[in-house]
Amino acid sequence: MMYSEKVLDHFSNPRNVGEIENADGVGEIGNAKCGDIMKMYLKIDNGIITDAKFKTFGCGAAIATSSMATELIKGQSIEDALKLTNDAVVEALDGLPAVKIHCSVLAEQAVRSALSDYYTRQGIDPLPIVGEIKEPEE
Ligand code: FES
Repeated sequence: MMYSEKVLDHFSNPRNVGEIENADGVGEIGNAKCGDIMKMYLKIDNGIITDAKFKTFGCGAAIATSSMATELIKGQSIEDALKLTNDAVVEALDGLPAVKIHCSVLAEQAVRSALSDYYTRQGIDPLPIVGEIKEPEE
């Protein structure tokens, strides 16, 4: 199995690890099959994600993808963050082995889960905006 330099870098030196106190949205997603869990914290100002942090109890690819996902969405509008796909995260990491693609889905869904929580806290039904949060099935 080959990991790209970027994956190894984000695994050994993950960006944005931790929690955000008074986060505006907190998401959590797990994968029942591997047992890995990802928690995502967002600070949102005027529709812009001003900060993002994560805590991942999981495999190296899950850590690398959550690190990259937080890097990608920081500074983005909610609209753009909602368009973040696991493919985009994988691409930004210069690829992942096929058996590890599902780990990137966890990162994608963790962001959506946090945004969903953000809308819920605003008294807005997140479902029509964010859609259903799906646990990766692999
Ligand atoms: Fe569980 Fe990677 S093996 S997220």
